Amino acid sequence: TILLLDFGSQTSHLILRCLRSLNVFCEMLPCTTKAADLTWSPKGIIFSGGPASVKDATAPHVDPAFLELGVPILGICYGCQEIAWRINAENVAPGEEKEYGHTDLNIFQADGPEHVNQLFAGLGESMHVYMSHFDKLVRLPQDFVTIANTKSSEFAGIAHRTKPIYGIQFHPEVSHTPRGVDLLKNFAVTICKARQHWKMSDFVEQAITRIRNIVGDKAQVIGAVSGGVDSTVVARLFTLAIGDRFHAVLVDNGVMRLNECQEVQNMLQEHLGINLTIIDGAKLFLDRLKGVTEPETKRKIIGGTFIDLFEEEAIKIEKAAENTPNAGKVEYFAQGTLYPDVIESLSFNQFSATIKTHHNVGGLPARMMNGQGLKLIEPLRELFKDEVRAFGKQLGIPENLNMRHPFPGPGIAIRIIGEVTPERVAIVRKADHIFISMIREAGIYNEMAQAYAGLDTNRAVGVQGDARVYGYIIILRAVTSVNFMTAEPYAFDFELLKHISRRIVNEVDGVSRVTYDITSKPPGTIELE
Ligand code: XMP
Repeated sequence: TILLLDFGSQTSHLILRCLRSLNVFCEMLPCTTKAADLTWSPKGIIFSGGPASVKDATAPHVDPAFLELGVPILGICYGCQEIAWRINAENVAPGEEKEYGHTDLNIFQADGPEHVNQLFAGLGESMHVYMSHFDKLVRLPQDFVTIANTKSSEFAGIAHRTKPIYGIQFHPEVSHTPRGVDLLKNFAVTICKARQHWKMSDFVEQAITRIRNIVGDKAQVIGAVSGGVDSTVVARLFTLAIGDRFHAVLVDNGVMRLNECQEVQNMLQEHLGINLTIIDGAKLFLDRLKGVTEPETKRKIIGGTFIDLFEEEAIKIEKAAENTPNAGKVEYFAQGTLYPDVIESLSFNQFSATIKTHHNVGGLPARMMNGQGLKLIEPLRELFKDEVRAFGKQLGIPENLNMRHPFPGPGIAIRIIGEVTPERVAIVRKADHIFISMIREAGIYNEMAQAYAGLDTNRAVGVQGDARVYGYIIILRAVTSVNFMTAEPYAFDFELLKHISRRIVNEVDGVSRVTYDITSKPPGTIELE
């Protein structure tokens, strides 16, 4: 196992992900961890990047005992500065300007023992790298040699003359450093001799053991499910770990897709054996949405109503639990937060900067969480979407659920521009069902990150048969995207698009036209509201 000491960079988890892709297991701990508290011996240690400046009085620093363990060490960006600063604070100084983005790195063959040139072995004489730093090394630390530089960083790569200690100024973990994984492989596999035997199935076992250890043999856990892959993976995992002491709750908010509630019930309850309760809130949600047109107000109403119903159900489950002899109180709330949600939302530790808040993180309000003594468990917090899908496969979740496009919590409500009414929801459901079925039949579903039919509540004129119709405008949207932060419209085959349009106008009453949204994100967003 490799130990990653995290100084709070936005990309620390990408280091874990790169190593997992090499089947090397890596554990991430906060940079404040003490070497004496480790119960295992790492094969090597990585110091991550971080937003602080090593020269600040409040800057985080590693326990120097880690440097004395005698195992290989790689410092990345802040981690590299930390190594240099420990030797002499004057080795690090603020750069003249922030160096940010792509640059070319020159790689040297340095004189010295074999280990000195192992970090860049096989990477040639230069490579593209991604930099993001302000401070930099201005002097070569004592007993180190330079192994790489760039136009503006004279010491972009350094290696200790006698010990396997390395520092690099750039970030090998990001996709903008195309051969970064090879460098991490050199470090972990060649230099640290870490074994490449980690598998996703090990992660399943570890996650189940971790849940059992935390929850114990009496406490109960509650979690919301939506039919999406993340919440289904969480529900299945908890069911495997603690059986019916896990309670999945599905709230029908009236703005889910056609037949969705029924399908989720079939899959979760019958196929995956999950202890599921369905709350029918459709009427309440739609009543509360009456007359509301403002998107954020819609979100707040849906979020608030969800919490009201969920809280009521939690209390019922709690009461029922009191009467079961072998089960204890509901003590935990399980949530399928993924790593990208975490980085977008909140500082996952004290050293990381906040970027933006996210609807899925934070979950239940304080009155439910701490007020009722519920503690949060997020077993997918370290994973990325593709890893959750691999995880889902291990857990026996069928392919078509595993590969499902994400569906937003406020559902169809943010796909209807303007007021949500039962009639409009029914129209969108039908149109969306035709659109998605035809995409699936064409075998292109997995080529898109998300696809849906929405509705413009303005009406347009059309002719159907000999009659004039005055109906709604359906907006089709299908995008490709890697991380949902940016997206491109899917390049549809035009004949297929026309066929989809024909079927929607013919089969869905109240629709006069179909349009295809070709806006990228930015400047558009994926949802209509
Ligand atoms: P946008 O529309 O912001 O969407 O480009 C990016 C991704 O986030 C999803 N999304 C939401 N998910 N609650 C959710 O659970 C929301 O309020 C919400 N708004 C957008 C959207 O479906 C896409 O995957």
